[in-house]
Amino acid sequence: MLMRTYDVIVVGGGVIGSSIAFWLAREGVSVLLLERDRIGYHASRASAGMLTPLAESRVGDPGFDAGVESLELVPALIHEVRELSGIDPEWVASGLLELAFDARSASALGTRAASLERFGCEYLDADQARKQEPRISDLALGALWSPRESHISGERFARALASAAARRGAHFRLGTEVLGLRTDGDRVIGVRSSHDEFSAGNVVLANGAWAGLCNEWLPGFDIPVQPVKGQMVALSAPQPGIRHIVLGSDIYLVPRPDGTLRVGATSEWVGFDTRPTAHATQRLLRAAMHTMPSLADCTFVDTWAGLRPATPDELPLVGPVPGLKGLTLACGHYRRGILLAPVTGWGIAELILNQSVPDMIKCFDPGRFI
Ligand code: FAD
Ligand code: GLY
Repeated sequence: MLMRTYDVIVVGGGVIGSSIAFWLAREGVSVLLLERDRIGYHASRASAGMLTPLAESRVGDPGFDAGVESLELVPALIHEVRELSGIDPEWVASGLLELAFDARSASALGTRAASLERFGCEYLDADQARKQEPRISDLALGALWSPRESHISGERFARALASAAARRGAHFRLGTEVLGLRTDGDRVIGVRSSHDEFSAGNVVLANGAWAGLCNEWLPGFDIPVQPVKGQMVALSAPQPGIRHIVLGSDIYLVPRPDGTLRVGATSEWVGFDTRPTAHATQRLLRAAMHTMPSLADCTFVDTWAGLRPATPDELPLVGPVPGLKGLTLACGHYRRGILLAPVTGWGIAELILNQSVPDMIKCFDPGRFI
């Protein structure tokens, strides 16, 4: 049988692979996405879905601008994929409060608020913070208010992107595991999978925490990605509700439209283990009640864990693999994959269409690890 050739094969159907498939298909590029499981089923589903570039990085950090740019892309992107797919990613423009429980953190938050003034951030004293979110503990001394940050369902976002990509002509094979690359000299010409072989001029590895397992496919380049387990707990949201994302001491609280309050998350270097533990659940609940004592009355809904794809410098790997033409990485998004999905999908589409890496994502160049 004649093997169909695609312009691009994307390996992995999390939020990153789905975003890449969408941005490519939208430009008329022929795309095949191969996912061994289901769309958005792993880290993307486990995530808290926070789109918080200001709270999660610092001005001047490499990647700060890409995070802000990604957030800027969100409203139009959500509108487009929701229209095409009929799936609502449940994006909530909530704003965020980051609390200080001691004088040193309060002073640091005051300084940060000043440096982020152009994004509408401001420092609130304890009374002002409690006006925004009355359940905050009496022990909180103040807060950074960041109005532009928001949250979304990571799984629904991935499914909406994938379904919108399909409407734009992208092809999908689910339940199909990629087992290796097909090469011709120093060029990638496709992949071998658990079902068939597929041909393409470009292959993009977007397989999250599993990218580091592909090293045997790549002579001369090790993909420095390791899984970092994140455990989370869901409570029934208290009434009256919590309106904003709240960052407490070593914890975050995200009130989702499904009526749950997400409490996250641990960071554990324990390999590919995704079993929730009693100890982590206890630690998360204790920190949640320290941040908002009235959460003690909430009912317990669920607990789960997912694997963040971590790199040594906590920045993703997005760009060509040195020494192997036609192979591109889009992995290692660690704690910010939901946030960075729009700019990653856009950036990979630009790279493949123009054969050059856009400035916005140059700081994610995999070549920095040679
Ligand atoms: P995944 O969603 O894991 O997708 C990778 C896919 O590749 C999987 O579906 C897998 O089945 C597939 N795959 C692997 N190997 C193969 C193969 N050989 N062949 C075919 N398919 C393959 N980020 C944020 O921005 N905001 C947050 O608030 C946030 N909170 C988080 C909370 C927790 C508890 C966790 C665990 C993560 C959180 N993250 C957050 C991080 C975010 O979830 C990840 O960075 C993001 O989901 C990574 O997306 P991905 O598509 O690379 O990986
Ligand atoms: N970005 C939140 C987390 O990774 O837990």
